[in-house]
Amino acid sequence: MDFSLTEEQEMIRDAAREFAQKEIAPVAAHFDETGEFPVETVRKAGELGFMGIEVPEEYGGAGLDAVGYALLMEEIAAADAAHSTIISVNNSLYCNGILEFGSDEQKQKFVTPIASGDLIGAYALTEPQSGSDAANMRTRAVRSEDGSHYVINGKKSWITSGPVARYIVVFAVTDPEAGAKGISAFVIDTEEPGFERGKTEPKLGIRASATCEIELNDYRCPAENRLNEEGAGFRIAMTILDAGRVGIAAQAVGIARAAYEASVRYSREREAFGAPIGSFQMIQAKIADMKMRLEAARLLTLRAAWNKSRAHAAGLRNTTEAACAKLFASETAMFVTHQAVQLHGGMGYSRELPLERYFRDAKITEIYEGTSEIQRMVIARQEIGLR
Ligand code: CAA
Repeated sequence: MDFSLTEEQEMIRDAAREFAQKEIAPVAAHFDETGEFPVETVRKAGELGFMGIEVPEEYGGAGLDAVGYALLMEEIAAADAAHSTIISVNNSLYCNGILEFGSDEQKQKFVTPIASGDLIGAYALTEPQSGSDAANMRTRAVRSEDGSHYVINGKKSWITSGPVARYIVVFAVTDPEAGAKGISAFVIDTEEPGFERGKTEPKLGIRASATCEIELNDYRCPAENRLNEEGAGFRIAMTILDAGRVGIAAQAVGIARAAYEASVRYSREREAFGAPIGSFQMIQAKIADMKMRLEAARLLTLRAAWNKSRAHAAGLRNTTEAACAKLFASETAMFVTHQAVQLHGGMGYSRELPLERYFRDAKITEIYEGTSEIQRMVIARQEIGLR
């Protein structure tokens, strides 16, 4: 067993760290406060290849592997979780699905401009009445008699990057009698008639990542924009989430790392009762517990990333590995940021330091791309073999 990174993986980690610390960390508090979308830093991330890290170079990406993607996500999230959310949706929820299930023409047309960062992509599965129960969607796609296009009607909610996305992978029911097997996936162009944006969500954390509802009203989607077969949509949605959950795990590791490193520094610097607080055993216990969980979360995350291409090459799923990594890392991010706020006392509660932001940002990792409850269900179903 060899835990070392390849030269290429080390290069991407170092480049991401330098960019994140120099360009993102200094503006993170501002964008958290205003909730504006950070156009300039996202554009620079695109120039560095970070908006399509696993996309082959022929489609405008950086051509790295899933481990490279996880390393990138940890570094960006350690500077600002909101930036890492924008990067993750572009990479894993949008590009990844089209790369895996799209035709060559679809990759050329819909991946190339997004992977290069020129345009933004998004993913629309959730609806107002169907979050965890994703197959229970109401959005309908009805094929025209001549078969040339589908007419799509419905509402999708919680669409990360929805306010700025040019293209969105949308899931809709094509056969209402067939349950999960009656769902299909489409790439829609937000500049075509019939597409509308709804309310923007006011959020607790990751405030610089834009989230909104979208509505499709008699949207005409050319049949050639359907991904893979009719009825393959739910499998596509779940496969995309298996990849996405590794990215969210890495994001959670990054948030936890930032909170942990700040806590170690504070334990050395802050004095109480005539000594640095790090000399007290109650603080030492907090530091040790944070460190142990952070290390375990990173190992689970990197293993899930490492396993992705091996599993897919063998025709297997990476479901359990991804769910274990996301579940453990997101709960670690909550634990570590909670401890970090406590360890910093009043300063942890103050907006003058980023600790309270880490705490608010960590919470979403237990909710999106499948709640912790859904991850537990997914893991148990895989292990027991029952639904
Ligand atoms: N990979 C491939 N196929 C899969 C799969 C996977 N991971 N999971 C399920 N499937 C297949 C099953 O094999 C089954 O097909 P067969 O009948 O041929 O075997 C079919 O899909 C239906 O599966 P289930 O019966 O297990 O489906 P279910 O309705 O019971 O639900 C679920 C399964 C795991 C709960 C699923 O609904 C789920 O993951 N829910 C959470 C949804 C989620 O994560 N939403 C987040 C949206 S994205 C987001 O957060 C917003 C953002 O912008 C960041």
